[in-house]
Amino acid sequence: MIEEPRVNVSVSVLSTDFTELGRSLERIRLSGADSIHLDIMDGRFVPNISFGSSIAADIVRASGLPCCAHLMIKHPEEAFDAFVATGVNELLFHVEATRFPFRALQLLQGSGIRRGVAVNPATQVESVVPLLDSVDTVLLMSVEPGFGGQSFLTGTLAKVRALRSAADRSGTPLRIAVDGGIDASNAAALRDAGADELVAGTSFFRTSDARAFVRLLKGS
Ligand code: DX5
Ligand code: ZN
Repeated sequence: MIEEPRVNVSVSVLSTDFTELGRSLERIRLSGADSIHLDIMDGRFVPNISFGSSIAADIVRASGLPCCAHLMIKHPEEAFDAFVATGVNELLFHVEATRFPFRALQLLQGSGIRRGVAVNPATQVESVVPLLDSVDTVLLMSVEPGFGGQSFLTGTLAKVRALRSAADRSGTPLRIAVDGGIDASNAAALRDAGADELVAGTSFFRTSDARAFVRLLKGS
């Protein structure tokens, strides 16, 4: 029997009701999700402001799960120390937000956390191929960054396949994560295309059976 590809599921708290954050973290923990995705927005790189490192640290402390900081901010290098200090186990910055991605990645070397870049929908996969030896993860955005609840851009599937091929050609053990508009309708295609992790926010908080939903996204 052909083994169905398995993926990790990371839940974005951006779309949760922040007056109920503690209960939302409990719901995520009980759902069988693998991690929590923290969408950090500065109102400059994206036209929205979310939350900063102090709230991120509170979420890390309360979550009971590994957390990933997705920095949608300009000059991300200036925030690395603050977000590494929150206790996240992964930090991703946008390749479009800095002129010197290699230098930014070098700043994270030795930080003890997984590091990587996020890539906007209109940015070509080829632009991050030179970075593959320096990253643990590439996060492919399947929506324009800045807001939850947007529709999945189907062109992302080809980008997942192209990035998986590029990583295989270069022999690098790359984690490919996909972020935005992910739900039951596109999870299987993303797994088949070679994604290792699916980030879901709105679809997770809309479901009445979180455990069943996470199993469905995982393909288990
Ligand atoms: C968008 C964020 C995504 C988004 C995912 O800028 O990076 O993580 O919150 O949420 P949904 O699943 O609602 O698209
Ligand atoms: Zn995100």
